Amino acid sequence: MQVAVFGAGTMGHALALVFALGGHNVRLTDSDPTTLARAPALMRTALDTLLEAGEAEGWTSDRLATAVTLHPTVGETLQGAELVVEAIIEQPDAKRALFAEIDKHAAPGTIIASNTSYLDIFPLVPERRKGRTLIVHWYTPPYIVDLVDIVGSPDTDPAVITEVRDICAAMGKVPVVMKRFISGYIANRVQTAIALEVNRLVDEGYADIADIDDAIIHGLALRLPVLGHYAKADFTGLNLSRAVLANRTYEPPPVRGHSETLDKLVEQGRTGVIAGRGYFDWGGRSPEELFRERDRKLLALKRAMREIGRMQGT
Ligand SMILES: NC(=O)c1ccc[n+]([C@@H]2O[C@H](COP(=O)([O-])OP(=O)(O)OC[C@H]3O[C@@H](n4cnc5c(N)ncnc54)[C@H](O)[C@@H]3O)[C@@H](O)[C@H]2O)c1
Repeated sequence: MQVAVFGAGTMGHALALVFALGGHNVRLTDSDPTTLARAPALMRTALDTLLEAGEAEGWTSDRLATAVTLHPTVGETLQGAELVVEAIIEQPDAKRALFAEIDKHAAPGTIIASNTSYLDIFPLVPERRKGRTLIVHWYTPPYIVDLVDIVGSPDTDPAVITEVRDICAAMGKVPVVMKRFISGYIANRVQTAIALEVNRLVDEGYADIADIDDAIIHGLALRLPVLGHYAKADFTGLNLSRAVLANRTYEPPPVRGHSETLDKLVEQGRTGVIAGRGYFDWGGRSPEELFRERDRKLLALKRAMREIGRMQGT
């Protein structure tokens, strides 16, 4: 399939790699020439990590350079495009302008797949494109994380949803089709609920951040890859789940729109791995080195998960 990827930033370059590894021809663009020029090196580094883990057999950087080509204009990027992957900045006006531009150049049958994290993009799309537009939302790094959220609008042709789901599945991904749009889909909403809870525990002085991560890694996380939420509930016993609700011992944290701890860190320039420090101090190690180590560990975990398998009822 001929795929046009718009945006070559954090997600776009990685999505270009995913589709190339999935056997598709990719044309990649970005409105910022520097970002576009940086993409091949980032894709090569990611490919090296995958090769080292035995996850991209037969691939070389030369083959990648043939599978993903860079293009400066919308029209050139859309040449022959059957699928558009929109991964530009999360701003409604920018997305609306790009959809209008795509509408001018794309063939009528082209599928438009937006990677938006939270936006209801459907009102931003020209009317005549709505039947073949849907959200296809990936997680970073998408060449390692398999989940893909898929959701259409009431106007989206169900056959398009099925086609895109099958394309993702054929690339070894795990597409989850939602019945209707809700901002943040499933995993991002759960992650936001966790963020609200742990921010409250830290801001109100119940626990330190390192202890919270210990609790998440050694308590919460261990069971999730094998059971998910609902199978875990079956193992816990539903009477307990019912009693927890009935006893009302748990109060969800208030949605305050900020966290004192987080605000303080950002004010100090501690914005995360790229800055060398965030909640934790990353010891002067480069972001490249840290991302690489993260990817290696995630790939090792995926391998183990594949070997172990999940427990699944019917
Ligand atoms: N970063 C994540 O973890 C993540 C995960 C899932 C989904 N998303 C979504 O993916 C999209 C991109 O996010 P990102 O983190 O890669 O952002 P980013 O800022 O790293 O990259 C966005 C790129 O879009 C480019 N751009 C802006 N307008 C453009 C246009 N008209 N045409 C072509 N390129 C244009 C920018 O120059 C920039 O390089 C957003 O909608 C975001 O919500 C991000």
